[in-house]
Amino acid sequence: MRSTLALALLPLVRAINIVSSNDDGWAEANIRSIYNALTSGGHSVVLSAPAENKSGSGSRDETPSDRTEPCEFDSCPANSGPYGFNETDTRLNWVNSYPVTSIKYGIETLSPQFFDGPPDLAVSGPNVGNNLGLTVYLSGTVGAATYAASTGGIPAIAFSGESGTATAWNAETPTYSTVYSELAAKLTDRLVASGTPYLPENIWLNVNFPAVDETCASADAFSFVLSRIFTAVPLVTPDDVETCDGTRLPTESSVVDTDGCYVSVSVGTADDKGDADATSQGVVLEKLGDLLTCLP
Ligand SMILES: *[C@@H]1O[C@H](CO)[C@@H](O)[C@H](O)[C@H]1NC(C)=O
Ligand SMILES: *[C@@H]1O[C@H](CO)[C@@H](O)[C@H](O)[C@H]1NC(C)=O
Repeated sequence: MRSTLALALLPLVRAINIVSSNDDGWAEANIRSIYNALTSGGHSVVLSAPAENKSGSGSRDETPSDRTEPCEFDSCPANSGPYGFNETDTRLNWVNSYPVTSIKYGIETLSPQFFDGPPDLAVSGPNVGNNLGLTVYLSGTVGAATYAASTGGIPAIAFSGESGTATAWNAETPTYSTVYSELAAKLTDRLVASGTPYLPENIWLNVNFPAVDETCASADAFSFVLSRIFTAVPLVTPDDVETCDGTRLPTESSVVDTDGCYVSVSVGTADDKGDADATSQGVVLEKLGDLLTCLP
């Protein structure tokens, strides 16, 4: 009774259809944590991620081949074909290929089955380890998000976190993994509450979480800061959106390196993985509203 009432009083966040991928593999703890966080937040989520660790594979895309080995952490048997899923939760899917191939399968094949159409949003990660600046070109987690936002035409967010190491889905869930997923769900819900389109066309968000430690121990301790992916070139790079008393956003690296618990939120163009212009940054600034703060 009490929980029904509490639910009824929550601000209305529309439940949406979300496709989820990563590059650390379908059975890594972080992707299962975000699946649980978004699902318990009311969203309908389908996970479609590589059968094994495909870190560093950027935007590679190849037709899935038959697996001969078991999936990572023994999460599927050997010789189980090019695709597979968890028999008790068929929303959990693996693809024996790269992150881009996996999210593409999620968008083109699984979404029509589960959602009766395309997903409303694509999320990738949380990646084990940050993807800051130039690493966006190498990261498969970023590759999946940028594919979704460009070719897929689906608003997309890549999440990456500094803390942790590769952890199996059936190990005890590490605290950092829970914290990162709560933060990811918080940002997702804010974007959803801002209404459609959730992001401008061809735009993705690169979100990086600093370490979870004694100071930054729970999701409530963190703030979000609008940032840039790359360092601006003086006199060459056009102004960023005006916020926090300036027209130059901090780089995402400087945000996560600032003492305190600051999450960087960069607005990127998906076709070339560059920084978006001030207009698109401004759209995101407005959508995220008071979720965003300024660096001290
Ligand atoms: C499959 O899902 C069940 C039920 O949620 C869970 O107990 C099991 O650990 C999962 N296995 C894998 C490999 O995802
Ligand atoms: C994947 O491999 C990279 C290096 O190739 C490593 O840093 C990372 O921890 C691995 N992740 C998993 C889930 O095994």
